[in-house]
Amino acid sequence: MNTRICKLLGIEYPIFQGGMAWVATAELAAAVSNGGGIGFIAAGNAPADVVREQIHKAKSLTDKPFGVNVMMMSPFVEEVMQVIIEEKPAAVATGAGNPGKYIPALKEAGIKVMPVVASVAMAKKMEKDGADAVIAEGTEAGGHIGELTTMVLVPQVADAVEIPVVAAGGIADSRGAVAAFALGADGIQVGTRFICSCECIAHENYKQAVVKAKDRDAVVTGRSTGAPVRALKNKLTREYDRLEKSGASFEEIEALGVGGLRKAFTDGDTQMGSLMAGQSAAMVDKIESCADIIKSYFNGVESVIETINSKLN
Ligand SMILES: Cc1cc2nc3c(=O)[nH]c(=O)nc-3n(C[C@H](O)[C@H](O)[C@H](O)COP(=O)(O)O)c2cc1C
Repeated sequence: MNTRICKLLGIEYPIFQGGMAWVATAELAAAVSNGGGIGFIAAGNAPADVVREQIHKAKSLTDKPFGVNVMMMSPFVEEVMQVIIEEKPAAVATGAGNPGKYIPALKEAGIKVMPVVASVAMAKKMEKDGADAVIAEGTEAGGHIGELTTMVLVPQVADAVEIPVVAAGGIADSRGAVAAFALGADGIQVGTRFICSCECIAHENYKQAVVKAKDRDAVVTGRSTGAPVRALKNKLTREYDRLEKSGASFEEIEALGVGGLRKAFTDGDTQMGSLMAGQSAAMVDKIESCADIIKSYFNGVESVIETINSKLN
């Protein structure tokens, strides 16, 4: 594989493990990097010293390039960026906000910067501000989401910018990977399927909930607060729905979600935990090693292309 993303990062396969708050620990990121893709530690809302520890751990587990995903809404974003500039992982991906003001310092430190975008305008802005690539994430994804689908967002972003585009959201197998490349992407980012990897240290109940999920189980809550999140349907999402429909205050709705992902990830609480996952959860049917997951995306590419040819000829 020799896409622009592979060349930019010095990786074997053009696949990113998307940063996932709580879920994307050093263990997961390092396993993905060792498997030939690039893993991202999620900084989430963690304080800077925790992020530094995680970077040290990843360095001890792999000598391949790995990255850190920074959630721009984190109260510790300033200190986390400082730690990253000192520790120099290969790449930084950013979610939930505009990393523009940090880009010059990150690039100065030799770190590749790859913001997650959900619109053409944001992709263009990030390119203008000096990003090395953008991750165009469709609404099929797990976690915090935008409006547009991967199917319509990726080609528009690919047409609008010169820098490489990584497609994210709903890419669960080699058919999705081929589709992403057909839409103009140079690489793919996967979150949900990596939750179900052997190396992910999420609670077994969370992994099994993803394995068991059906096509319409990944639902969106929080639209009324302006911060929509996709997670598997359970008691928590039903309670969100009830509060949102009853016209509860922003604070009341927000309070319900506090600690939700930790409850799912650490305690395995499948009822009141936030089982964040994308629509592709329904296509994940087993727990595998990261290396096997990565191979399954790319080993199947030729047969997908053969199928396309046989349909079109
Ligand atoms: C549990 C979970 C947590 C996530 N947390 C973050 C995050 O902290 N920052 C971020 O940029 N994206 C986050 N995402 C999005 C992923 O990085 C990735 O783009 C997305 O999962 C890709 O779509 P998929 O779930 O369909 O594979 C999260 C996704 C999940 C499932």
